[in-house]
Amino acid sequence: MRDIEQIQDVQLMVDTFYGKIQQDALLGPVFAERIAPEAWEKHLQTMYRFWGAQLLGIMEYQGAPYAKHRSLPIDKPHFDQWIALFHATVDELFRGPRASTAKVKAASIGQVFLGKMRFERGQFNT
Ligand code: HEM
Repeated sequence: MRDIEQIQDVQLMVDTFYGKIQQDALLGPVFAERIAPEAWEKHLQTMYRFWGAQLLGIMEYQGAPYAKHRSLPIDKPHFDQWIALFHATVDELFRGPRASTAKVKAASIGQVFLGKMRFERGQFNT
């Protein structure tokens, strides 16, 4: 198995991941609430740019992603499931330093999002 090397690899990773997300009993409805069927293509394009920037240094993504998550009805179980699906996706497709980086970054960004969310909700110690 090979590593993530080019933008087509990032696209395959993103497409496979959001395919799993849309099928998922816990996360599917959260995404469906925010992203209409005709808006998925745009979301996928954004995520190609985000992961292209993170993994290949193609700095085309500009955004403040946390703001888009602040008001979602999600908590630790959702993040755990998001990370589990992301890791499963990467492991089934790629192996190597960038594949590892993708998993570490996803988990650490997820931790930061969850931490900010809990802080904003006043959930300091649970
Ligand atoms: C339970 C976990 C998560 C859920 C339910 C979730 C859900 C969503 C939804 C619904 C959107 C679309 C928002 C909109 O356009 O209004 C979105 C955008 C996005 N998400 Fe997540 N997300 C989760 C975790 C993450 C994590 C861990 C990352 C990063 C590793 C991430 C990165 C992004 C980015 C980059 C965007 C695009 C923001 C933009 O438009 O610039 N998300 N997410």
